[in-house]
Amino acid sequence: MHAVVAGRLRCASCGTVVPVATPLSWRCPNAIDGDRHHVLLIESDDADGEFVPDQSDNPFVAFRRMLAWDAFAASTGMSDDDRRSFIERTDDLVASVAGTGFRFTPVARESQLSDELGFGAAGGVWVKDETHNVAGSHKARHLFTELLHLLLAESRGLVPWAPATRPELAIASCGNAAIAASTLAAAVRWPIRVFVPQSADGIVIETLTSLGATIERCPRRDDDPPGDPCVHRFRKRVAAGAVPFGVQGTENAWCLDGGRVIGWEFIHQLDRDALTHLVIQVGGGACAAGIGEALMLAGSTTSLVAVQTAGCAPLERAWRMAASTGGTANAGARWSKCMWPWESEPTSLADGILDDETYDWVAVCNAMTATRGCPVVAPESDVVAAYAMAHRCTTIDVSPTGSAGLAGLITMRSAEAIATDARVGIVFSGIRRGVDLPALR
Ligand SMILES: Cc1ncc(COP(=O)(O)O)c(C=O)c1O
Ligand SMILES: [Zn+2]
Repeated sequence: MHAVVAGRLRCASCGTVVPVATPLSWRCPNAIDGDRHHVLLIESDDADGEFVPDQSDNPFVAFRRMLAWDAFAASTGMSDDDRRSFIERTDDLVASVAGTGFRFTPVARESQLSDELGFGAAGGVWVKDETHNVAGSHKARHLFTELLHLLLAESRGLVPWAPATRPELAIASCGNAAIAASTLAAAVRWPIRVFVPQSADGIVIETLTSLGATIERCPRRDDDPPGDPCVHRFRKRVAAGAVPFGVQGTENAWCLDGGRVIGWEFIHQLDRDALTHLVIQVGGGACAAGIGEALMLAGSTTSLVAVQTAGCAPLERAWRMAASTGGTANAGARWSKCMWPWESEPTSLADGILDDETYDWVAVCNAMTATRGCPVVAPESDVVAAYAMAHRCTTIDVSPTGSAGLAGLITMRSAEAIATDARVGIVFSGIRRGVDLPALR
């Protein structure tokens, strides 16, 4: 793929430019209480020649030169070698808590799955298995670039605190992201507070507790505005000084930096144009935004397809609203016309993607537009079928949320919207935790 370097952050809504050298540049400066319809996106510049990854089995090292973090670190005068070893040292700390550091995750054609979905020999389904990534899902990838940013800024004296008086980290999440954030926080002994739904219990809470996170339950209050009560409480805490350490680009743009690494892995492992489609489950949207951004930067012919469940599909609505108000690309200035919280109480077996707003909708719509992709809404029956099919046809112990991309593929195959010679990539991104195995038939 062609080489690029991160140049700056630019708000997709109001156009404000923030230099990549700005420490703690989590949000657009115009994102204030009462107007949170802003998100900083990373803008890259062309560099000379083909991109040559650094030799490493750690993708953050291999793709380092395209990371915004690398440009940020370079702007502080840090040498190339020191930037590489900073990542490696941080990765060692992560491994000491997570049992593994960041490594390329495997991707392979799954023949039984391909057969079951009616693909011919020329086509098929390629599954990227994130269930053995740090903290059991892809989420830690987003958080690692936030962590690198924080640690680098701190080590270069660019933060308004001393290491002994670090502000708490904060995240709103009900599962994989909270576990990933708490794992990284534990690795560097940084206190973290997680805002979880009132109903959260079981293995997720046990895991967060064992990682030393402070857990705050967030019941919906009568005087809450629309939207997720965990997000409201989280924002209050951030306004009071906590560091946003989540996986929504609207709250911390630096999650979008690491989110691209999974896309670069696909491209590197399979070739730039090996796949016709990447079909990705969408909750808050940061995951699909990162993968889509990687495809766009590489000039790939792969189409990005974003999957939501019928129980909660604000992105598909935003895509239609954007199309009818001026186009699906660069719709950030039309935020209020396109994206608002899903009105009914979201429900699905894939309960990890029930974000009632797709916070990173602008970037996902941009990528779907540029790659000639589209959103798809999977009926709940396909979500259930995908979970069973994933366990019947592969050996990956994926959760119902993690197999929700497959649900979208089932929906598209049923509608004959994906042909039998298509080559489709999906991501099994979350390990099964405390959920019963599916009945296999
Ligand atoms: C397993 C799994 N896959 C996919 C997603 C979707 O990621 P995003 O919220 O960035 O859209 C999530 C979390 O929301 C998840 O836990
Ligand atoms: Zn803005």
